[in-house]
Amino acid sequence: MVQWAGLVAPGATVLDLAAGGGRHTVFFAGRGHRITAVDRDTAKLPTRDDVEIVAADLEDGSPWPLPGRRFGAAIVANYLHRPLFPAIFDALEPGGVLIYETFMMGNERFGKPSNPDFLLKDGELLELVLGRFSVVAYEARLISEPKMAMVQRIAARKL
Ligand SMILES: C[S@@+](CC[C@H](N)C(=O)[O-])C[C@H]1O[C@@H](n2cnc3c(N)ncnc32)[C@H](O)[C@@H]1O
Repeated sequence: MVQWAGLVAPGATVLDLAAGGGRHTVFFAGRGHRITAVDRDTAKLPTRDDVEIVAADLEDGSPWPLPGRRFGAAIVANYLHRPLFPAIFDALEPGGVLIYETFMMGNERFGKPSNPDFLLKDGELLELVLGRFSVVAYEARLISEPKMAMVQRIAARKL
């Protein structure tokens, strides 16, 4: 997130999906962005004027919680629910930036998540965006911090 945050246009709105405690929400707010932070558990998200908090279960079959809304960036970290990809892509304006990082196959060697439903397949993020995004960076690798894990990361701009 830190490495590719500079791709997001100054003043652009940012969607933080499955925002958790809001570590990325706070980081992007600190860069002057207005953030919409979505999670089913919003208790730990910061209450501040530049952060819109949306409480929503993204997996229970409810409609997408932000119909018709468009953002200058969408960020997702450590969360995967494959049926959401079309809605995430639609939620980006043309030229909008996607920064996505989560666990991939191979992570089961190091602990959780180990369920294949929560692990990206080899090349999956790249394949999902091809033809729809211009890819700025893509990685699939072992990381050691904050713990050993296999992750995929992508930074891409919507065409
Ligand atoms: C591992 S945390 C990642 C949080 C944050 N993105 C980060 O990197 O710090 C996963 C988040 O997904 C949220 N989540 C899991 N299932 C969800 C669902 N069905 N609907 C909405 N949020 C969900 C959890 O509440 C949790 O905050």
